[in-house]
Amino acid sequence: MEPKYLFRRYAEVQNEGEDDMINTREILAENVHLSEDGKSVVIIDQTKLPNVTEYLTLSTAEEMYRAIKELQVRGAPAIGICAGYSIYCLAQQITESDFALFYARFKKDKEYLDSSRPTAVNLSWALKRMESVVTANRDKEISQIIELLGEEAVSIQREDIEMCRKISEYGLSLLKEGDGILTHCNAGPLATSRYGTAIGPMLLGNERGMKFKVFSDETRPLLQGARLTSYELQKAGIDVTLICDNMASLVMKNGWVQACFVGCDRIAANGDAANKIGTSGVAILAKHYGIPFYVLGPTSTIDMNCKTGEDIVIELRDEDEIRSKFYEKPMALKEVKCYNPAFDVTDHELIHGIITEKGILRPPYTESLAKLF
Ligand code: MRU
Repeated sequence: MEPKYLFRRYAEVQNEGEDDMINTREILAENVHLSEDGKSVVIIDQTKLPNVTEYLTLSTAEEMYRAIKELQVRGAPAIGICAGYSIYCLAQQITESDFALFYARFKKDKEYLDSSRPTAVNLSWALKRMESVVTANRDKEISQIIELLGEEAVSIQREDIEMCRKISEYGLSLLKEGDGILTHCNAGPLATSRYGTAIGPMLLGNERGMKFKVFSDETRPLLQGARLTSYELQKAGIDVTLICDNMASLVMKNGWVQACFVGCDRIAANGDAANKIGTSGVAILAKHYGIPFYVLGPTSTIDMNCKTGEDIVIELRDEDEIRSKFYEKPMALKEVKCYNPAFDVTDHELIHGIITEKGILRPPYTESLAKLF
């Protein structure tokens, strides 16, 4: 079985209007949405794609935490959306009718979800946004607060859809017919709610009849490029070629790449950008070959509290993801040490532009980002 709605063309979605995406109340996207009864979060398990499309229903805090930690739902904006719906569902389970007790339990759940992954700022951004609904409405009935939480979670997803649409338009304005584009990891519909950020311009251009040649880095060790990006692009009918990460230099040298488009998990105030491990290497290669390198992401991914990339916490993951995760047999001795950082930071000097829903920011980023906030 394949996802039913994930690959619909933008034009179709626009013609139908936002509310009819899957024809029920608040289901805005297939990869992360509320269950029919509004009490659980339903996700497509991204760890099983592209071979199996399995939907998971998350009802407990532990299931939600695990889904984010184990990348069943992943990609910075999608994690934020999932966190918004999750805390809404957990709030419905709180039985206290006294505000102080309700808020104490809400905060505990919020902090627990927030601790699932450290790098993508969208997670804490969405949870803080949900918390401010609680604190701003402390004088209301708990049932009203819960209702408002539901509305806020839906707004986070609605806004994400709109942001991705705008980012796709801005990104497309930088591309021309026949361009070769290299991307790393997955910043497509699965990582957001629709369209995606780095992949959005290609999907939008394709719909308008433009042809591109996309090179998708497989993205070791968890293969988001192989399993998710090449899947999304292939299904959309875009010319995609999957390459191993260490082939990027060669395809650039061959003159096949006119631009690099990547997503981001946290952007510091000086424009340094954290994204999937390997991204900074792509940027360094792009500079060597004179290819423009763009970072695409919503403004919710910008963290003005981080002055530079040095302030961004990089997630360290299990060593077995390198040794054995996608192999039938382990590819290294169990006792061999592995180092498995999930992200790296691309120096702002390597970035030609940061493409947000508010426009294309250019260096110096300390100025263009400050102006934005
Ligand atoms: O570890 P992941 O798969 O969550 O990492 C995802 C990325 O690095 C994406 O490029 C980023 O979150 C942007 S998604 C629009």
